[in-house]
Amino acid sequence: MIEIRSISKTFSKRIKALDNVSFDVRNGEIVGYVGLNGAGKTTTIRIAVGVLPPDSGDVLINGYSIVRDKRRASMHIGWVPELPIFEPDVKALDYFVYLAGYYGISSGEARSLGRKLLEEVGLGGSYNLKLKEFSMGMKKRFALAVSMINNPDNFLFDEVLNGLDPQGIAFFRNLALRFRREGCAVLFSSHILSEVEGIADRVVFIHKGRIVREMSIDEIKSMAKPAFKIRISNMDERVEDLLKDYGRVRVEDHTVFIEEPRVEASKITKILIENGYEVEEFSRATSNLEDVFFRIIGERG
Ligand SMILES: Nc1ncnc2c1ncn2[C@@H]1O[C@H](COP(=O)(O)OP(=O)(O)OP(=O)(O)O)[C@@H](O)[C@H]1O
Ligand SMILES: [Mg+2]
Repeated sequence: MIEIRSISKTFSKRIKALDNVSFDVRNGEIVGYVGLNGAGKTTTIRIAVGVLPPDSGDVLINGYSIVRDKRRASMHIGWVPELPIFEPDVKALDYFVYLAGYYGISSGEARSLGRKLLEEVGLGGSYNLKLKEFSMGMKKRFALAVSMINNPDNFLFDEVLNGLDPQGIAFFRNLALRFRREGCAVLFSSHILSEVEGIADRVVFIHKGRIVREMSIDEIKSMAKPAFKIRISNMDERVEDLLKDYGRVRVEDHTVFIEEPRVEASKITKILIENGYEVEEFSRATSNLEDVFFRIIGERG
């Protein structure tokens, strides 16, 4: 269980990277952490895993405070950083053994654990390749294996899908689902909502250092249902009331969106025209997930 409790972080007077961020990742749950570049995802994750101190607030990992009891909290964390840095000239398995040493695992034990985990992430044939010979996707896979060394039950993955091919994304999805089945708490960040869709149960949206919304994937999908998009040159505030019985109505400048419409398009145009509105353009818009994303954070792309 990961409990993020009112964390704030300011890097300089100008940049308030996190402003009172709180949310939970429960056991057996996969949460997507979605926001634009610079929203604060990496800062949150770095604080949660204990490599960056918050200005205020705390993160509890299985109840242990990352601020006051970092040693115990860290034992229960698996972390894949946004930009994993590895020794380029060391062979994969040797480096794995070296890192396992941090967790007090003997080198013999680490070697067999390394073989098992590298095999599991699809690097079975690459034990003896140097890390500089790894592609970006292979490095991500290696980082995944490393995050599992201490058999943790809380995972924090920062942009782990970046640089993975479709097969790699499917692999990560299966891995996350396995962790969920095993009762782990899984948090993974991404700036692409459609990539999160097939993996997460729930999404926490962060924008400019603040949590703007938490939604289940089902709620998000229902927002992406088909819609009518109607441009009206003489738009006024009565439109919303006029159309409210025919679907979910949203007005933006000169455009009205009717989501999940309950009547035919022709009926809507007829009503509008009868009420003196000039319909400039009528289209069927299936709002896609990235549209939903921008609607949620309240900003256009
Ligand atoms: N070490 C640092 N020193 C100064 N400012 C920083 C530092 N790290 C992050 N920031 C600032 O904090 C804000 C949040 O950055 P963060 O890296 O958490 O965003 P992000 O959501 O992970 O973005 P991305 O999608 O690009 O990875 C940004 O304005 C960034 O410039
Ligand atoms: Mg980041």
